Amino acid sequence: MAITKQNLGLIFSLSFLFFFLLHCSATSAQAPAPAPMPPGPPDVTKILGKAGQYSIFIKLLKSTRVSYRLLGELNNTGNGKTIFAPTDKAFSSLKSSALHSVNDEQRVELVLYHVVPTYVPLSQFLIVSNPMRTEAGESGNGEFPLNVTTVGKTVTLMTGQTKTDVAGTIYADGKLAIYRVDQVLQPLKIFARNSSAPAPAPGKSLVGGDVGEKSEALSIGIHNLALFALSVTTFALSL
Ligand SMILES: *[C@@H]1O[C@H](CO)[C@@H](O)[C@H](O)[C@H]1NC(C)=O
Ligand SMILES: *[C@@H]1O[C@H](CO)[C@@H](O)[C@H](O)[C@H]1NC(C)=O
Ligand SMILES: *[C@@H]1O[C@H](CO)[C@@H](O)[C@H](O)[C@H]1NC(C)=O
Repeated sequence: MAITKQNLGLIFSLSFLFFFLLHCSATSAQAPAPAPMPPGPPDVTKILGKAGQYSIFIKLLKSTRVSYRLLGELNNTGNGKTIFAPTDKAFSSLKSSALHSVNDEQRVELVLYHVVPTYVPLSQFLIVSNPMRTEAGESGNGEFPLNVTTVGKTVTLMTGQTKTDVAGTIYADGKLAIYRVDQVLQPLKIFARNSSAPAPAPGKSLVGGDVGEKSEALSIGIHNLALFALSVTTFALSL
């Protein structure tokens, strides 16, 4: 029997398929077990989430994207970080004051004011030099100074506006320390009564950023609905 062109094609395809399958099973047999994920940097928002009572600070860390910045910076070998985490209660007492309105830039600064760019174990607050520098910026008078005094085991933080004790250690691993504070640290630059900072934008509360987003989404929804109704009408008229 003569081998026709068709048969040749079939044989070629079949052998190709055979080698293909063989190759696949060989490689899948060789595929190593997936490598275990290397331990990532500590995630501040997760740690605070586990600790409870920090939902407003977590929201602020996320909405200002400071949480992502911290994740990146803690991943690289550096001096570590120290974070003063105000409780939800601390924020609610701030809200009742007349000074709860801040603009977007001030909101980022306020969050960064709670972050010190080095790891400071509790015992080391005794030897830090005042004013301590935070990630919010300059520590000069009227800017973002943060002073610390230690008496016995009590570490007291002073901003010029706020005076509060370090109320407890939430987390410390030699690179990252997170301490509880029962008051929001109010930097002079934002909260001083005679601050040269621009007047806060009205109508924007500290954490209520998504109220505007929600109403925007709603208006887009209504807009789409109107467009849909319009096209249905146009379609009906064209019949
Ligand atoms: C941490 O750094 C490693 C190596 O540079 C990188 O592969 C990884 O994606 C980083 N993780 C985060 C969360 O930034
Ligand atoms: C912080 O300490 C420095 C140096 O002791 C002092 O000059 C400054 O007035 C203090 N500021 C506040 C806000 O306590
Ligand atoms: C407010 O600041 C201005 C300019 O910095 C200064 O001249 C004035 O004395 C301050 N007023 C009060 C009440 O501190």
